[in-house]
Amino acid sequence: MICKSSTYTNFRNIEGQTLYFDDGINIIRGENAQGKTNSLEGIYLCAQGRSHRSSKERDFIKFGSEFAKVFINYSSNKRQDMTLGVTYTQSGRKYCEKNGVSVTKMSGFIGNFRAILFTPEHLSIVKNGPSDRRRFIDCALSQLSPSYVVDLQTYARVLIQRNRLLQEAHEKKSMEAFYETVGLWSEKMALLCEKISAVRDEYVNKLSFFCDRIFADMTQNKEKLTLTYRGRITKEESLRQLTENLEREIRYGATLYGIHKDDIEIKINNREARVFASQGQQRSAALSMKLAEGEISNETTGEYPVFLFDDILSELDSGRRGYIMSGISGKQVIITTCEEVAYSQLQKNRVIVCREGKFFR
Ligand SMILES: Nc1ncnc2c1ncn2[C@@H]1O[C@H](COP(=O)(O)OP(=O)(O)O)[C@@H](O)[C@H]1O
Ligand SMILES: [Mg+2]
Repeated sequence: MICKSSTYTNFRNIEGQTLYFDDGINIIRGENAQGKTNSLEGIYLCAQGRSHRSSKERDFIKFGSEFAKVFINYSSNKRQDMTLGVTYTQSGRKYCEKNGVSVTKMSGFIGNFRAILFTPEHLSIVKNGPSDRRRFIDCALSQLSPSYVVDLQTYARVLIQRNRLLQEAHEKKSMEAFYETVGLWSEKMALLCEKISAVRDEYVNKLSFFCDRIFADMTQNKEKLTLTYRGRITKEESLRQLTENLEREIRYGATLYGIHKDDIEIKINNREARVFASQGQQRSAALSMKLAEGEISNETTGEYPVFLFDDILSELDSGRRGYIMSGISGKQVIITTCEEVAYSQLQKNRVIVCREGKFFR
């Protein structure tokens, strides 16, 4: 997959600009707070439908403007010159388009253009909380399966409804209505838990397979990396959990069981990496996970996604930096960086300089 260009209109600090990219390595260089991350965020929005920064969509709109728009032109090995675009308005609306035609469902938008984003925050994915690891697999799976996007969206809605009921029961409002309806929502939730946890489990198994190979390669076969999904459950088990613990959930006023609580266990040489691994090992594990994500995407779709590296290389030592550069050779990568000299070996590649929301060749 190749991103040929990205066009921004009033997107954060970028007023109006089109960036053109080469097939191989592209570097966006500039000082801090100039718009480098903003430019990658825009491209990633076209892949994932939402930002990796937990910001409100209205924040995308350049201060004082009415709307923000990002638009990419991309090619896959099946088809050239496709486009995707997203527009956000001050009134809180979002319009997605694919090849000039409006797309109303996110499941029809996500996954057309596939990209893997790697930011310094990802480097601490091993020691962060479970929600970061869930987000990792959810983002990866969403780009590969429209039905996964639909299931996640449905689950989120069911969770809100069930939590609302539990909150009301917690406040002792309408207990009769509670017992009449909660079973229905538990049923819906249990079915989705079975479906989603099975897909996640399969994905994590694949991830573990590729991660182990990459990690072994990185450590000259000295260390073994294993990932295990903790949360696979059948509909029956899930329903039993939700039924048996109802009183406890009422006390908390929230759903305490389900795929929104799951985790991925990461082990290095059979020891829990979150607790026992050094920072260097944790970073290598994170790096393996990102490269493995690319391998699975390639295996599933027949081509590599575009890699977006936001300020990541300066965080790595030369060994890991070298490894990741060799791991992405032959693929399209867009790298942002503050460093002037470190990429002298990449001079042949396209370098775009970013200054105050403007980009120069
Ligand atoms: N909605 C917005 N309108 C105008 N400027 C914005 C908006 N959102 C963020 N910015 C500006 O974007 C700049 C940060 O850009 P960013 O891409 O994160 O920088 P970097 O080059 O360090 O990656 C900051 O100066 C910030 O004020
Ligand atoms: Mg940045």
